[in-house]
Amino acid sequence: MSGLSRIGVAIDSELLRKFDRLIARRGYTNRSEAFRDLIRDELVQRTWESPHSQVVGTITLVYDHHVRLLNEKLTDIQHDFHRSILSTLHVHLDHDYCLEVVVVKGAVSEVQKVADILISMKGVKHGRLTISASGTELA
Ligand code: NI
Repeated sequence: MSGLSRIGVAIDSELLRKFDRLIARRGYTNRSEAFRDLIRDELVQRTWESPHSQVVGTITLVYDHHVRLLNEKLTDIQHDFHRSILSTLHVHLDHDYCLEVVVVKGAVSEVQKVADILISMKGVKHGRLTISASGTELA
């Protein structure tokens, strides 16, 4: 055991209310255990493939297109990583929000890098990288 550390997290009240409902449905009796499990799950997902493995995947982004220059920044990043990006699907969800699905292919480390950059951009409300194996590896 390395000892316990206490941290403070600033979180939007509405988001926290939704989080509490979610963890209650999953049977958690306190937030700390739910946070720990989320962190563990994320760490496990990042180690289950070696960084040099070739994969295909999708990066799903939901973002507010009114955030200044966000569209341009997201496009610039995709051009920087054009060797890893096969295609992008854009859907105008409503007046404010866009959904983008970016199809990626390449080394896990490269695919993860572009996903992390896109998902962490200010104005991106939700993002998720889904990694899959290529068809021949699934045979
Ligand atoms: Ni749009």
